[in-house]
Amino acid sequence: MFEKIEFKLKDDIDFERLKGSIVTSYGREPRPILTYYRLGDPEYFRSILPDELPWGSIPPLQVQIAEIRDTVGGHLLPHIDHNISACANYYVTTGDSTTHFYNLKEGGGGFVYPGRQSANIFTLDQVDKVAEFKAKDSDMFLLDVSEIHSVETPKPGIRRFITWQWIGVPFEEVRRSLKQNLK
Ligand SMILES: [Fe+2]
Repeated sequence: MFEKIEFKLKDDIDFERLKGSIVTSYGREPRPILTYYRLGDPEYFRSILPDELPWGSIPPLQVQIAEIRDTVGGHLLPHIDHNISACANYYVTTGDSTTHFYNLKEGGGGFVYPGRQSANIFTLDQVDKVAEFKAKDSDMFLLDVSEIHSVETPKPGIRRFITWQWIGVPFEEVRRSLKQNLK
């Protein structure tokens, strides 16, 4: 469901410089507001990357910059990501948050997000928690976002991360292909 990846960016990073145009923004106060940006300054981005990247034979399709502003703190409800099958998140600022993974309970229906074919949002009583992790600032984790997951943040704040995304490639294939897992 997730795996920690050995990866460090160089130096202190200028997060604002990484932000380009907005890809999508959703949520509304007092609920958290999630905003995803295109990479703003690819040359600067390349300059902070380590010499060797952790991807093996299956590199990510794209990278985006994510910022989640939460004026209250609380639980971003269990969901399955749109489109993206796996992502590697480098947490610049975790906001002390914990990521949870769940199995759907028998009969736990879920809700269909407008414009979607199948349920991808769930309430906490529809799911059973099976795993969790708490990243530290500057940690990277590979996540299976095709599984039901949620993020719990204990207090108001901002979460910032850089997210490398795979589309249509199962988490397990990506996980096995990481350099640290190649046999
Ligand atoms: Fe997600």
